[in-house]
Amino acid sequence: MAYETIIVEVEDHVCLIKLNRPDALNALNAQLMSELAKAASEAQENEKVRCIVLTGSEKAFAAGADIKMMSSKSFADVFSEDLFTPETDAIGRVRKPIIAAVAGYALGGGCELAMMCDFIIAADTAKFGQPEVNLGVMAGIGGTQRLTRLIGKSKAMDMNLTGRFMDAEEAERSGLVSRVVPAKKLMDEAMGAAQKIAEKSLISTMAIKESVNRSYETTLREGLLFERRVFHSLFATEDQKEGMAAFAEKREPQFRDR
Ligand code: CAA
Repeated sequence: MAYETIIVEVEDHVCLIKLNRPDALNALNAQLMSELAKAASEAQENEKVRCIVLTGSEKAFAAGADIKMMSSKSFADVFSEDLFTPETDAIGRVRKPIIAAVAGYALGGGCELAMMCDFIIAADTAKFGQPEVNLGVMAGIGGTQRLTRLIGKSKAMDMNLTGRFMDAEEAERSGLVSRVVPAKKLMDEAMGAAQKIAEKSLISTMAIKESVNRSYETTLREGLLFERRVFHSLFATEDQKEGMAAFAEKREPQFRDR
């Protein structure tokens, strides 16, 4: 499908989605969010795709929701249209792993979009922030919720209340990002991680994603039970037999997602 605000490429089982509104630092307007939601759903449906990488440009992953699009809206407008909800729900429904590769600004909705992904690999140029407070509003798609779970209350309060930016080194130290690499190496690192994931059984990687995400939504006791039962259920797959046989036979496994 042809898109105007994103570029989508599928190669070697990895779907690369690049946000592409360079004149607006990839600000998230209605068209971009809708195209992104469609591309994410298509990647979920596409049997060739086993992992997704979401990225922006060297200067900006995304500088937030499009302020010019939102400025004239009223409460009734955003409430009735449920601004950003259908699109973020669509991204949340993707069961295949999604990596955010972030260089430059990831602010407001941009930081929140990165946090919707399963993990974030950052360039050393990355800057994260929830500066909505400077606009007389607050974060609206996860900046007070996911950020708090990722970096804790004190830092999340600091980021949301002051609107300050966090550099890549602090983001890694705080647990917001999983790795920081020199900017030139960002895409190699993210695509390399995606390739590694794409080599595994898709049943395993989707089960792992579901299980880790469960930890956000339940007690430890329930989460451990959920994990154990999913672990047990993987013994019903051919990929479990293949993976364990390959280990014993000292060869690479040939997973078939069954
Ligand atoms: N919305 C719309 N346009 C944006 C934008 C945004 N969030 N961020 C940048 N742009 C546009 C600028 O208006 C500018 O366009 P023009 O050339 O037409 O004037 C262009 O992108 C380049 O931006 P700057 O000239 O400002 O670039 P800079 O390098 O001087 O500054 C920046 C970069 C610090 C990121 C600055 O652009 C900035 O502060 N942007 C806004 C960040 C922000 O407040 N984000 C939160 C948005 S609200 C939100 O996201 C709500 C939510 O939770 C869902």
